[in-house]
Amino acid sequence: MVAICDIDDRALNLSKEIITKSGKKMPQVFTGDNYAWKKMVEIKDLDGVLVVTPWEWHKPMVIGSLEAGLKYVGTEVVLGITLQDHWDVVKAAEKYNANVMMLENVCYRRDVMAVLNMVRQGLFGELIHLQGGYQHDLRGIKFNDGGHAKEHGVEFGEKGYSEAHWRTEHSIHRNGDLYPTHGVGPIANYININRGNRFLSLCSFSSKARGLHNYVVKWGGENHPNAKVKFKLGDVVTTSINCANGETILLQHDTDLPRPYSLGFRVQGTEGLWMDVNNSIYIEGKSAKNDEWDEAKTWFDKYDHPLWARWSKETAGAGHGGMDFFVIHSFVESIKRKTPTPMDVYDAAAWSAITPLSEQSIELGNETVEFPDFTSGQWMYRKPVFALNDEY
Ligand SMILES: NC(=O)c1ccc[n+]([C@@H]2O[C@H](COP(=O)([O-])OP(=O)(O)OC[C@H]3O[C@@H](n4cnc5c(N)ncnc54)[C@H](O)[C@@H]3O)[C@@H](O)[C@H]2O)c1
Repeated sequence: MVAICDIDDRALNLSKEIITKSGKKMPQVFTGDNYAWKKMVEIKDLDGVLVVTPWEWHKPMVIGSLEAGLKYVGTEVVLGITLQDHWDVVKAAEKYNANVMMLENVCYRRDVMAVLNMVRQGLFGELIHLQGGYQHDLRGIKFNDGGHAKEHGVEFGEKGYSEAHWRTEHSIHRNGDLYPTHGVGPIANYININRGNRFLSLCSFSSKARGLHNYVVKWGGENHPNAKVKFKLGDVVTTSINCANGETILLQHDTDLPRPYSLGFRVQGTEGLWMDVNNSIYIEGKSAKNDEWDEAKTWFDKYDHPLWARWSKETAGAGHGGMDFFVIHSFVESIKRKTPTPMDVYDAAAWSAITPLSEQSIELGNETVEFPDFTSGQWMYRKPVFALNDEY
């Protein structure tokens, strides 16, 4: 790593501590204003750049990096804010013949990959219906006291720290599935979206919004200024998607109510299904008992994906249960081998565009809206490339 950029000294100091502990050479530091990154991406012969900033910065930083000549850009979820942002990134990647990979780490979760292995070996039969989402109580992240990243205070915006500094604003001004990619990324790999299949249309519904307001009142009191803030984001946003090959998808965004974390996966085919909430699998004629769930673990041990079988030792200490190792590993290996990244700009755009499309559907009174084809017809010819073997 030759350079890092951030506008916040606390964040830079944390990064510097990690680098010092690792014994690696201290990279060049860029800071000072919101556009300091522009100077960083001009460094000669950079192999790649990772964009891990607030959502509204992803599009300008990705496109700015491509314009500076970078051929590999990894960006945290999501790709952009508006639908036009998504087109702009796709067109820029095409213009500069460059790789833009969204760092969707859940695609590499161990159980998610074991299910991919099972899907590819036909265990579930022909896939019919899939579910997933982002069901994560973020109240202690959307608010804090400006000093801690989690669980203290009810401040946000200028007075908030880390995600409370920016993410909460999206809950005030927007209503839609604001974080679709952790749920839909794995699903897209199961049914080969953009590779022989594509999303056709989408329809979203939003519940009323209570969770964030109640949280402010509970911990800050009725007289706290933030108790007056009106949140537009419904507590539970539900989206249905229709696919070219006839599958249906149900996604849920649920971040403002008390609840344990779960991405709520369900992968159902003509022969059986996986449901991750109760850690269970049922395959007709193969499960231990007729009409009774098997513990998913027995299947996952047998169908562990070759990538995990080979690399699980290297995942020790990596974030999010090891899956962060794989997403960075695949980005770096693609650069070293000068090959396309296993998740590309068309995947990033299709998965992330669910946000503006769901906002549009809700705004139009739950109208069904058409999905754009970011591949311009190439989805009919493109072949699956994600995690076909144990390499990266
Ligand atoms: N894949 C995952 O599991 C996962 C987990 C957490 C966060 N994320 C994503 O990662 C991204 C960052 O989230 P986070 O939790 O690290 O947020 P954060 O607020 O803790 O960190 C963002 C950093 O970006 C810096 N920044 C803001 N504007 C900048 C600019 N113009 N130039 C340089 N630096 C700038 C901020 O100072 C801050 O240090 C988001 O897209 C988020 O959704 C993904």
